[in-house]
Amino acid sequence: MGKPGFSPGGRGGGGGGSRGGFGGSRGGGRGGFGGSRGGGRGGGGGGRPSFGRGGGGSRGRGGGGGSRGRGGGGGGFKGGKTVVIEPHRHEGVFIARGKEDALVTLNFVPGSEVYGEKRISVETDGNKVEYRVWNPFRSKLAAAILGGVDQIYMPPGSKVLYLGAASGTTVSHVSDIVGPEGLVYAVEFSHRSGRDLINVAKKRTNIIPIIEDARHPHKYRMLIGMVDTIFADVAQPDQARIVALNAQYFLKNGGHFVISIKASCIDSTSTPEAVFSAEVKKLQADKLRPQEQITLEPYERDHAVVVGVFRPPSKK
Ligand SMILES: C[S@@+](CC[C@H](N)C(=O)[O-])C[C@H]1O[C@@H](n2cnc3c(N)ncnc32)[C@H](O)[C@@H]1O
Repeated sequence: MGKPGFSPGGRGGGGGGSRGGFGGSRGGGRGGFGGSRGGGRGGGGGGRPSFGRGGGGSRGRGGGGGSRGRGGGGGGFKGGKTVVIEPHRHEGVFIARGKEDALVTLNFVPGSEVYGEKRISVETDGNKVEYRVWNPFRSKLAAAILGGVDQIYMPPGSKVLYLGAASGTTVSHVSDIVGPEGLVYAVEFSHRSGRDLINVAKKRTNIIPIIEDARHPHKYRMLIGMVDTIFADVAQPDQARIVALNAQYFLKNGGHFVISIKASCIDSTSTPEAVFSAEVKKLQADKLRPQEQITLEPYERDHAVVVGVFRPPSKK
């Protein structure tokens, strides 16, 4: 059997389906690698998330379950008086359903925000818990989740190596998702962003900030154990190589990667589709086997997220 072929799939969300979070008729293109997946995903109907660009629309209320509560401080998200929290199909991620819907994560540090995001307090069985709104216009991982990505491979308790941590915006949500039993090793080479990242990590004890160049994993090998997943958002032309190098050092066999690719950072003269496909080939050459690819419209233009597995165990 040869390697599974790559089929970048069609654009546009299809009808129905519960995969695209609460999002509505967004056109995230997606494709699988190999034959058995495919098919249009992305939500049909329902409302769009309530973030700056692209908000509005009608709001479908999800079925029962979830916890009810009142929205807390901050601006932006209009939850209304009653917000119902429902688990998203990605463990550790939730949907707040209210006057408007929003993607949220359970705040690892209740009472504290990271980048001015809205917080929502909810009482469940007499216990107050707090969620943080996760804006897909500010986070490619959130955009991928709302685009209906099949897997993010960061369940609670997992260890994630995050390359291109910047000031810790998305890192903080990954920290919420993996929770107190998990760890996020966050690599960022800009000292300016690194200062913010270190401040985020002071409160969030499951984040280990590493201010280094991800091209040189040997420099931080003493700080990192083996990880379950590498997330990469370095926006560099050699990102595939950077991920492969880090995978060789830190990613367990059968571990996963989630890579955000910004086409213009890699080659502004080719079409985004050609860039994505060339990147996929580079990954495959380094034993990183892509399984899924989606584009991030309408949140980011000409970006794709590719998810896959590293050195998968051979099938007997
Ligand atoms: C697109 S931004 C990341 C945004 C971030 N992932 C978020 O969602 O909050 C890319 C970041 O990668 C960092 N970066 C680029 N090349 C890097 C490298 N070789 N090593 C470490 N960080 C790098 C940049 O300094 C920048 O902060």
